[in-house]
Amino acid sequence: MGGGIIGASIAWRLAQRSARVTVFDARTLGGEASWAAAGMLAPGGEIESDEGWRGAAIESARTYGEFVRELESESGGKIDYRQCGALELARAGDETNALEAKAGRQAAAGIGSEPVPLARAAEIAPLVSLEGFAAARFYPGDGQVNPRDIMGALRVALAARGVAIRENEPKRRARPMNGHVDLDGQAFDGAVIAAGAWSGEIDAGVPMTASFPVRGHLTGYWLEPGLLGPLLRHRQTYLLQRSSGFLIAGTSEERVGYRRETDPETVAAIASRAAALLPALRGRAAGEVWTGFRPAVAGYEPRLGRINATAPVWFAYGHYRNGILMAPPAARDIAADISASLGIG
Ligand code: GLY
Repeated sequence: MGGGIIGASIAWRLAQRSARVTVFDARTLGGEASWAAAGMLAPGGEIESDEGWRGAAIESARTYGEFVRELESESGGKIDYRQCGALELARAGDETNALEAKAGRQAAAGIGSEPVPLARAAEIAPLVSLEGFAAARFYPGDGQVNPRDIMGALRVALAARGVAIRENEPKRRARPMNGHVDLDGQAFDGAVIAAGAWSGEIDAGVPMTASFPVRGHLTGYWLEPGLLGPLLRHRQTYLLQRSSGFLIAGTSEERVGYRRETDPETVAAIASRAAALLPALRGRAAGEVWTGFRPAVAGYEPRLGRINATAPVWFAYGHYRNGILMAPPAARDIAADISASLGIG
């Protein structure tokens, strides 16, 4: 239930084990957060310890290329993926102290970074304005992927393995029943709730952890390829450039429910922050502006598991800012547990 990157990756892994799988999506495969996501694979910007799910996220950033190569090979499609590193900037005083303190915690968790003098930062990202900055760190393990490429490849790989993709078919109920699960009147051997921000609304006959959307705005600019090598970060502003030249700048965090519209003030604020970092954007209107719904739960810890030891209903949601990064380990672990429990493969 849910054909975002998490649900579709789980379906792929199950199909590889010869399970017969149907993916139901309320709209289109990968049409929500997986479509909206920038695709940063960036523990350096998102994670500060290796506790719980974070350890798997750090490992996933290291091994993401293997997931991409396997998916490219099964689908025949090209996925824009680069372990391009990230440059993070700080102003003097509190910001620099916070960056150094964060890097210390991250080093203990296995997230590498190195301080770089501003002169070196200017070599790493020559078109970035370093005016007003006092410190920079380079995170070599951070990277980026185009999530829309991944979803296109997953669609092909799923179809090739005989997975039924049922779009515009929202499912509201996954009720365990006599060793099976009833999905709005249809019986299956098992079900996975992976419906992003909507997951907590699905009736599995037990209390589910509530989920909610955290809206983010992104802006995109068509530029010459190769203007920005690494990801660029300063506080809540980030920039990345796809191989095609399309440059994405973000972001915002808003608790406004499922409102899809873009807010001109938020867009203008992002554009101004982005242009301050990358003067090539000054005076240039964004070519595209969009919003997406990060799938969150209270405490912002992803929910991965099974509703109880015997009922054949699993869940995988709440990946919040790291769903693209977390899809490979989530799919591996949930598919392995389902396979072991249902005797698949
Ligand atoms: N992963 C970045 C974001 O959610 O904005």
